[in-house]
Order: sequence, then C-alpha cells, then structure tokens
Amino acid sequence: MNCEEIIKKMNRDEKIALLTGKDSWHTVSLDRLGIPSIAVSDGPHGLRKIGTDANGKEFTYKATCFPTASAMSATWNTELVRKVGEAIGEECGAMDVDVILGPGTNIKRTPLCGRNFEYFSEDPYLAGEMSAAFIDGVQSRNVGTSLKHFAANNQEYDRFQINADIDIRTLREIYLKPFEIAVRKAKPWTVMCAYNRLNGIYCSENKFLLNDILREEWGFDGIVVSDWGAVHDRAKSLLASLELEMPFSAKSADNLKKALDAGVITENEIDNAVRKLLDFIFKAIESRKKRTKSYDTSEHHRLAKEAALEAITLLKNDEGILPINSKKVRKIAVIGRLAQEPAIQGEGSSHVEANLTDKPLDKILELAGNDIEVEYQPAYHTWDTGIGGLNKAMDAAMNSQMAVVFVGNRRGVEGEGFDRQSIRLSREMEDVILRIAECNPNTVVVVQAGSAIDMSSWIGRVKAVVFTWFAGQAAGSAIADILFGVSNPCGKIAETFPCSLEDTPAYGTYPGNGYVSRYAEGIMVGYRYYDTYKKDVLFPFGHGLSYTSFEYGDLK
Ligand code: BGC
Repeated sequence: MNCEEIIKKMNRDEKIALLTGKDSWHTVSLDRLGIPSIAVSDGPHGLRKIGTDANGKEFTYKATCFPTASAMSATWNTELVRKVGEAIGEECGAMDVDVILGPGTNIKRTPLCGRNFEYFSEDPYLAGEMSAAFIDGVQSRNVGTSLKHFAANNQEYDRFQINADIDIRTLREIYLKPFEIAVRKAKPWTVMCAYNRLNGIYCSENKFLLNDILREEWGFDGIVVSDWGAVHDRAKSLLASLELEMPFSAKSADNLKKALDAGVITENEIDNAVRKLLDFIFKAIESRKKRTKSYDTSEHHRLAKEAALEAITLLKNDEGILPINSKKVRKIAVIGRLAQEPAIQGEGSSHVEANLTDKPLDKILELAGNDIEVEYQPAYHTWDTGIGGLNKAMDAAMNSQMAVVFVGNRRGVEGEGFDRQSIRLSREMEDVILRIAECNPNTVVVVQAGSAIDMSSWIGRVKAVVFTWFAGQAAGSAIADILFGVSNPCGKIAETFPCSLEDTPAYGTYPGNGYVSRYAEGIMVGYRYYDTYKKDVLFPFGHGLSYTSFEYGDLK
C-alpha cells in the first residue's frame, strides 16, 4: 500500500493518534494498516538511549561520549564533525534508533546560557556549517537527525514561556541563519521546534517560522517535531505545520477532535500532516535495511580522542612553559580532583552514559614515566563545593618545579533547564588557582568547561592555560598528550571570551522580565559587538595558540 491508499483506509481516530507520540521515545504504530513505530533518542554528542530494566527502572545504554558541540566547533574541522556524526549514526543503527535528537544549533547570545556547551558558536555561519556536517555524517548512516531548537532558544531561564523579541533583520541574519544553512545543505529528516515564544507566538504554533520560512522559503520537506511538551494547543500547532507532538499527550486527540468539529481545522489539514508523517515513517523503515548493526567501540574511542585533541585550546603559554619538558622538569604537582574525575560533558537530555572515561592523571603518570616524579593532590571535592586538602596541595606545589592545576565547571553549573549564575569559576576553584600560583611560579591551569569563562581574577598569576571544553570520554588522554607535547594543540575558540559578564552585549537585557526578552543588541552578537565597539576581550573569537609559531603574509 502506498501512503495515499493507507490514508484512505485510516479512520479519523487513527489519523489523530498518529500526530502525537506513543510514549516518550516512539511514534504510534497502527498494526491494522501496517504502520510501524519509529524510535527517537537523545544525543547529540553521543547516543542517549533510555531502556527499562526487569524491575521497570529506567537506565541509559552505554555509548561513546564525544566532545560536545562547543568543543567540536573549536576544531573548525567540518570533516571531523562529519566523521563523528557517522560514528554516532552507526551507534544509533546498532541500537535500533531511527532518529537522534540533534544537533542543537542555537546561537550563543549570552555566555550564561546553560546549554551553550550543546551549541556550536556565536557565529551563524560556523554554527550552520558545523550542523550541516554533523547531519550529513549521521544521515549517511541511514539514521535521521532533528535540528533543534527552532528557534531563538538562547536561554534556559524561563525557556517554557519566554518571548524572544527580535527584529526581523537580526532574526534572519543571526538566529535563523545556522538553521537555514543546515536545512538547505544537509536536509535533516526532522526539525525540532523550541519551547519559547518568538515575537509573541509560541514556536510550536508559529506559522511564520515553521511554514512560511522553514518549508516555503527553505524548502524543508521533513517533519517538524515539538520539543518535549512544547505544544500548548495541538490544533494551532497543526495549522502552523507541526506534524509530530512529542511525547504522548493525553489531551492532544481531544483538542484536535474539538477543533475539527468546530471547523478550526479541516480533515484535509490532518491528512496533509499524516501524509508527511507516513513519508517519514516509511523512509525510516526503508533505511533500517541499509544500516550496519554493529560498531567498533575502540575505533569510536580513538575518534573521540582525535576530536578532543583538535578541540583542546591553548589559551596562554608564557615563556613556552608547555609542553612539559622532561629535560628541565624533574617533579610536577598535579592538583585538583578533576585530574582524576574529569568533567567531560554537561547535564540534561544530552548526557551520555560513556563507554569508558580516560583519566588525565593515569595518562600523565604514563607519559611522565621514570623521568618525572608526579605528586597528585585532589585539593577539592568533585561534585559538591568545598576545599579538601589545600595545604597538602600547596606543599606539593612548593616542592615541585611545575604545578598543573585542574579546575572547571562541575555538576550543577552547565546544564539544561537553568543558566549559569556567573561566568567565573567557583570561588573555591579560583582560590585553589591563586594559592597554588603563590607557591609555584610555574603554574599551568587546565580548565574543563563547556563555555566561556571569565579568568581575569587569576590569569595574570599563571603561566599557561589549557582550555579543554567538555571534551568527551577520551578527554583525559588527550589532555595529557597536549601537556607533554605528544600532540600540538590546535583548537581555536568559536566564541569570544569576554573580560567580564558586564562586558557582554546582552548584559542588562538578558534574561528579560519573565515574559519578554528583548534582543536590544540586535545583530551585535559575539565578536560583531566587541569589534564594532572596540571592546577589550580576554580572548577574541578564533584565538588559540600552538607549540610552534606562524607568520601570516600575502593575505588575499
Ligand atoms: C530538550 C530537548 C530534548 C528533549 C527530549 C527537551 O527537554 O529541550 O533538547 O531532545 O527534551 O529529551
């Protein structure tokens, strides 16, 4: 049976049932008509598939945890992003997942946004190209993607109702541009609408956004999926061109029936949505036949390391203190519990249950070998605040020729559903850096975080800063390779590191008043703002050093 024949055979209830999910992760199946169910899963820097054990308890299957989006864009390497996409597509295939819910391509309007680690850049072109490469990679493995969160989901605070008030030029040139590039270039199977309102109308009901721009202007022919629970009025969202409401919603069918009876929507409009959904479902079913059902875990770990190595960014390196030179250094103090329990990703729906996690300390000990003595001191607790054993750490720093301090954003700082309170490290992390720097003039700081950090209170006191991002499960060995010069750092930041939060363009207008967030800075987002108004920054967009020096010439 082709789609038209199926639609003719479907009754009203069956059509309506198809327009909302069966549960959290599947579409509705209709056995009588041979319509199977499609499986979607979160990601996107690795697969996050949820299962249920024998006691009915939810768990997450293991998968390869790759560097998150902000790290991937520091590589500026679309070919590498594509390869990571391919690997994730293979893992989806092996785990019977038809669509992975990503990539996220929202613009980093403010460094405070809790999900910035899931987004690529403050630059629309770079974000668009990275997204297109990722989509291309996943979809080359016959698995679909869901480009999200369409659109203007630039803060987590108040995300369920905030109205992003954006002038049309800014909307098109900054906030829609990455979506446009990705949709036109890579044709994602699905696009996920955002929770928030855009210029007064919920994105899930926004016909201008979902139909006029996405479908008619950009030629999108896949399906629009709601963010989980983003639909308020199912009939209005249907009229705006949203085909699939996720997850299952008990009130959806009733809402659609009433709207049909009242003549607010027509049977024809329902059929149009069902037609697109059937096309999507059968495309996914066909694709299943072409998937490889297994993948090479160690090869994916190797790729995760390759990506981490290209992402890690050397921000400062006075007197060429790095790489660690075994001819000059006999003992190093490794300070900070993140050396043993690295922060490899942020929190929320993108959290991957990593296959394995490399520890920086293990690889440091291996590379130091017999030439360099290493003393490790944790100095602080990992997942709660509080210093523990700072005196011992200071002693270690004092008795070494070099101190390598591991700091970063621990659990509860960067994640979904909340924004950061500050762009500085926690008070105790800053304290640890300052105290260790007092004890040892050769202090190197390794920062594990998913987005820009204000380092101004301590950066002048230390010799080198290695910014690792949330670099995925191979972060540990990649960091050690960079520290010892086994690899040459080559990451370049894809977001400006400001001198302070007060310097950022949305300061004062973000997060809005609970109803509206007015994007008063217009197109002056990220480097556009700092360049135009000649503002000092801590590190400009594109900054990143290496262990060699370059001269630029004959630029064209
Ligand atoms: C997030 C999405 C995610 C979805 C499913 C939502 O809360 O915003 O990014 O894909 O949940 O977990």
